[in-house]
Amino acid sequence: MRLSTIEWTLLLLLAAVKLVASQALPQLTPRQLAVNQLVNASRILAQQTIADDSPGHISIRDPLAPNLAFLITAGTHPAAQITPADIAVARINDSIVTSAALSGYPAPARPAEIFLHSSIYQRFPNTTVASIAFYRPEQLLPYTMFPDKSSNASAADATVSDMTSLYAATSGAAFMGGYAAPVFDAFDAEPATITPSVDNVVKGFALAQKFGPANARAGSVNETDGFRPLVLMRNDGATVVGTSVPETVFRFVNAVKSARVQWQASAMAFGNGSRPLFLPNAAAKANDAYLRSWLLWMTQIEDSIRADEARSPELWETDDANSTTGDGGGSLASGAVATLLARPQTVPIATAAILLATLL
Ligand SMILES: *[C@@H]1O[C@H](CO)[C@@H](O)[C@H](O)[C@H]1NC(C)=O
Ligand SMILES: *[C@@H]1O[C@H](CO)[C@@H](O)[C@H](O)[C@H]1NC(C)=O
Ligand SMILES: *[C@@H]1O[C@H](CO)[C@@H](O)[C@H](O)[C@H]1NC(C)=O
Ligand SMILES: *[C@@H]1O[C@H](CO)[C@@H](O)[C@H](O)[C@H]1NC(C)=O
Ligand SMILES: *[C@@H]1O[C@H](CO)[C@@H](O)[C@H](O)[C@H]1NC(C)=O
Ligand SMILES: *[C@@H]1O[C@H](CO)[C@@H](O)[C@H](O)[C@H]1NC(C)=O
Ligand SMILES: *[C@@H]1O[C@H](CO)[C@@H](O)[C@H](O)[C@H]1NC(C)=O
Repeated sequence: MRLSTIEWTLLLLLAAVKLVASQALPQLTPRQLAVNQLVNASRILAQQTIADDSPGHISIRDPLAPNLAFLITAGTHPAAQITPADIAVARINDSIVTSAALSGYPAPARPAEIFLHSSIYQRFPNTTVASIAFYRPEQLLPYTMFPDKSSNASAADATVSDMTSLYAATSGAAFMGGYAAPVFDAFDAEPATITPSVDNVVKGFALAQKFGPANARAGSVNETDGFRPLVLMRNDGATVVGTSVPETVFRFVNAVKSARVQWQASAMAFGNGSRPLFLPNAAAKANDAYLRSWLLWMTQIEDSIRADEARSPELWETDDANSTTGDGGGSLASGAVATLLARPQTVPIATAAILLATLL
């Protein structure tokens, strides 16, 4: 049996995790790892100028109860300053925040748009959607203002006058497939509403449908009526989904880069009339080569994490009863930093995983 790229990558990552776990470092529970990943993702998205001072959030299915709950960045901190204390557990069936993700903290305030996350997790299985991010990058917002294209509109048919719709212009955005990104319009979904925010179940349900039929496979992005991992939201922002937190972050960053390129191309095409060449369907990928980027981005947020931990150590401490930390509780950040950076043995394995992923 020939293993796919992603299987190889996962195998090697598992090996790296096992190697680290076998050393005398604090071991993180699945929930602590998920919390760490969300904290990192939020700070990376801020560093990449996807998230700013306005509300936005990223979530992951709860590793302890993937069919019932999800973890989400919440509370009052902006994206660049999210800490482990800001991660909430919310229920998929009714969007209620039940607790903080780590024991020992009060439940963080839930975001108004929590319905967006619960509705999408309800519609799709964990093999299609395991992480969701909603932010308001201004590079994507112009494309939310022209909701006339069907999500079946093929990139191959696009002309200059179709450049008000967002298509994949770069290889990093290949995850979108060869079709126009769907645009959700909250004012269509609920005519009486006075805000574009997805702040109730009615809008959440309508938004979730834009990602495709409930039985659409993650790999059907290249098909008419297939899965659509990115949905633009009129006057509001965009929601991007993936099968892991790093994949979702990678997609958001690359969608914004692609939008910038398309914007430049539109300026060039103005008054010309030649056909823009977007990525064709044949280039659509189900999996993204996100690992290399994620490892780089982690090093770029490390200083901010260490500085915030020094400033407010209480927001980084955990007494999670399920932690296997020998000394009974410890600092998530130092444990996490040690996990990937202070252990030279793990570097060759991570590098090998990336090289293999590139080669295969
Ligand atoms: C959601 O599920 C929880 C238990 O898993 C249950 O207590 C609660 O009543 C449910 N909410 C709704 C609105 O069905
Ligand atoms: C999806 O959920 C099922 C049932 O909870 C679980 O057995 C499976 O491992 C999960 N798969 C992924 C990819 O998370
Ligand atoms: C879409 O890609 C998948 C592989 O990811 C392939 O099996 C399928 O045939 C493709 N569909 C079309 C319409 O090209
Ligand atoms: C896309 O095309 C399929 C098959 O022709 C159709 O069933 C579906 O309604 C179309 N979706 C949209 C959003 O137009
Ligand atoms: C558009 O630009 C291309 C490349 O400069 C040129 O060959 C073509 O004639 C232009 N078309 C129009 C309609 O101006
Ligand atoms: C510890 O794990 C058990 C079962 O795995 C779970 O029911 C419980 O909620 C966990 N406790 C915490 C604080 O995460
Ligand atoms: C989070 O980022 C820190 C700082 O770069 C890193 O040491 C840690 O391994 C990361 N944790 C996860 C789960 O991504």
